Amino acid sequence: MVKGKGEARVAIDLSDEVGEINRNVYGHFIEHLGKCIYGGIWKEGDLDRGVVDLIKGLDPPILRWPGGNFASGYHWIDGIGPSEERKPKFDLAWRAIDPNAFGTNEFIKLCRILQAEPYICVNMGSGTAEEAANWVEYCNGPAGSYHADLRVRGGEAQPFGVRFWGLGNEVYGDWQIGHCDAATYAKQALEFAKRMRWVDPAIKTVAVGCDDPQWNWEVLRTCKDQIDYISLHKYYYNPDYYERVAAPLEAERSLARLAATILAATGERRVKIAFDEWNLWHPEAKLENGLNQSPVLADAIFAAGIFNAMHRLCPDVHIACFAQLVNVLPLIISDDKGARATPPYLAFQLYGRHAGSTAVRVRTACETYESKAWGQMRVPILDVSATLDKASRTVSIFILNRDVDREVECDVSAIGLERGGKAELYELNGSGVEKPDAKVSRGHIGLSERFSYTAPPHSLTVIKQAIAG
Ligand code: AHR
Repeated sequence: MVKGKGEARVAIDLSDEVGEINRNVYGHFIEHLGKCIYGGIWKEGDLDRGVVDLIKGLDPPILRWPGGNFASGYHWIDGIGPSEERKPKFDLAWRAIDPNAFGTNEFIKLCRILQAEPYICVNMGSGTAEEAANWVEYCNGPAGSYHADLRVRGGEAQPFGVRFWGLGNEVYGDWQIGHCDAATYAKQALEFAKRMRWVDPAIKTVAVGCDDPQWNWEVLRTCKDQIDYISLHKYYYNPDYYERVAAPLEAERSLARLAATILAATGERRVKIAFDEWNLWHPEAKLENGLNQSPVLADAIFAAGIFNAMHRLCPDVHIACFAQLVNVLPLIISDDKGARATPPYLAFQLYGRHAGSTAVRVRTACETYESKAWGQMRVPILDVSATLDKASRTVSIFILNRDVDREVECDVSAIGLERGGKAELYELNGSGVEKPDAKVSRGHIGLSERFSYTAPPHSLTVIKQAIAG
């Protein structure tokens, strides 16, 4: 990038609504893998207080579990009942011993503490439709049937009311237990969903989708009446910072393509997208170290790009889960030095706390650069999204400056922001894009229908203001 000062014009129209933002797009994912659960969330026979307190700071709306690849070999019955009777099992997916100390009840306990919606992914690798339906019965059935009574006997008289159920994980890939082709998966998913819904018709099911439109077409055509969501998973990495922070554009393009496939295959937009695994996967994160990595400011800038895309895609994407929450490609690191947040954690907090109920249209004119890593793309140096919160009548503007060296002077016109005055301002930044020392500083800015704001290099700024009416 060229040194000096960049310039941009941003137009926000508060009356031009893109749609309602489903808060589940700020969701999370935990898997029996590395030190995410054992040695992270779960230590010495209990939930780890320090880790849980940090997770609480994110106010997670939804939590996906138990995998991931792990889900394709997991038998839920192994993880229930008195802890002393549970047996360790060999987990084929990650070739590790799973002690089964953390099972369904422990997951529900965690979700209750966090006030997060539990989202369970069933085993479509080595499992059966019957086993999945029994899991729904265990979780959601009233007392009086065999599997529901297993729950009651364990001290949980009231059903857990798990609404979200994933129909397997990434079975399109040969790394997955139960890898198969689209037609085979679609036929099986239909049977799983049907039986699970017969136990509890209120559940929402998520079918496995991917970047192959042909796969998605087959699954949607076959399962459309039995599914509520189709998933997409995306992991990226490139040593070049500008390529890394361009990746959200590729995700946005791919999600929009999936939305178009849904419309074409089902004739409507009822089936929504669950973008239920996304992250940067650094080269240092290997199986040998439990997929551990050390996120830097660039990871926060990448995450902010994903959230701005979520705002733009809000009519179609209703769930998104960062992969993963603790120690595995982490948002939170927990080791012998204690539990601590990483830079993308701060981006999550800013969006989770300040984004309103409705996304509004934003148009940005700014410099662009060329990206080649994910196909030829022109990437705007500035990425802006805006939301309106209808209950509190608050507008929030999210300004992401990807430029490493230059500040960008933004000439912002915000139609509908007639009340001037001081707005809250939060700036996420750090000493460099490859450094882990990010922090959020707070301040104020005078706002009116047209105002100017200079976005510092490699920063995310949130401007939040109550509006009249
Ligand atoms: O998040 C790590 C792994 O990545 C998950 O288990 C799998 O679903 C994906 O391939």
